[in-house]
Amino acid sequence: MKLTFETKREVLEWYEKQPRTLTKEFVDEINWKDVKNYPLDKKFIPVLFFMRDVETMTDVYYSELRRTPTGKDPHISKFMERWGVEELMHGEIINRFLNEYGIETDENWQQKVYGSVPASYTALNYLFSAVATLVGKKFTGTHMAFGAIHEMSTMQGYRRMMELADHPILNKILTAIVREESAHATFYRSVARIELKQSGISRKLARFIVKNFYTPVGTGAKPENESVYAIGTLFEGREGEDWIDRNVTARLQTLPGLDGITTVTERIANFARAHKSPA
Ligand SMILES: [Fe+2]
Ligand SMILES: [Fe+2]
Repeated sequence: MKLTFETKREVLEWYEKQPRTLTKEFVDEINWKDVKNYPLDKKFIPVLFFMRDVETMTDVYYSELRRTPTGKDPHISKFMERWGVEELMHGEIINRFLNEYGIETDENWQQKVYGSVPASYTALNYLFSAVATLVGKKFTGTHMAFGAIHEMSTMQGYRRMMELADHPILNKILTAIVREESAHATFYRSVARIELKQSGISRKLARFIVKNFYTPVGTGAKPENESVYAIGTLFEGREGEDWIDRNVTARLQTLPGLDGITTVTERIANFARAHKSPA
């Protein structure tokens, strides 16, 4: 699918035409009773918790971003309203899957996830927003490039999970989530392209920030050992590294100013390498 957009309005109009996949009907039609009847290697359970929490933490990031010039852009803010709702639902459906599998979760799990975000993460987020506000609209390309990286890598995490865990009902759920992540990725990538094309400063800034400050989604907000475990379980070894290279880095490199950038593959591979899988 090759999509080219000239303006942010066109990107938003495209996004708004995409049907939601995780509708109430979709959730109701899932054979929840069958979840327990298929095996699931228990090594994937902490990864599902990690994914659930990272989806839920989007809310923290979202409220911070809304204060910046990027969040005040009319097209981006319109997108983000729906985006925020979709990410929260991703967290909720993963939590439901865990419950149906027989793993109890706290009734207030979402509040606990918000409460668990470390002050260092909040402070860093705040600093970024402050810098973004200072820089103004020229920072939007950077925000959008980061969004694109996070959406693409999240989507690949789910695809790896489908391939490795291969639980039929989980696969059905993840297929639906992946479709929404894919629409998010297209939105961010397309807006990033428009923004970065417009200004040399935007391109330089995006390149500098990605190179120096990119860390995989969830890291920094979740404890280091949990991040290493989740990333390592999904992307360890040459195969995992190639997967990210092909599906995230190669696409990122097509954005103006980000040609040849290999940071994303390198940082994800570093996390994956820190993980010692049980022999
Ligand atoms: Fe999501
Ligand atoms: Fe997403």
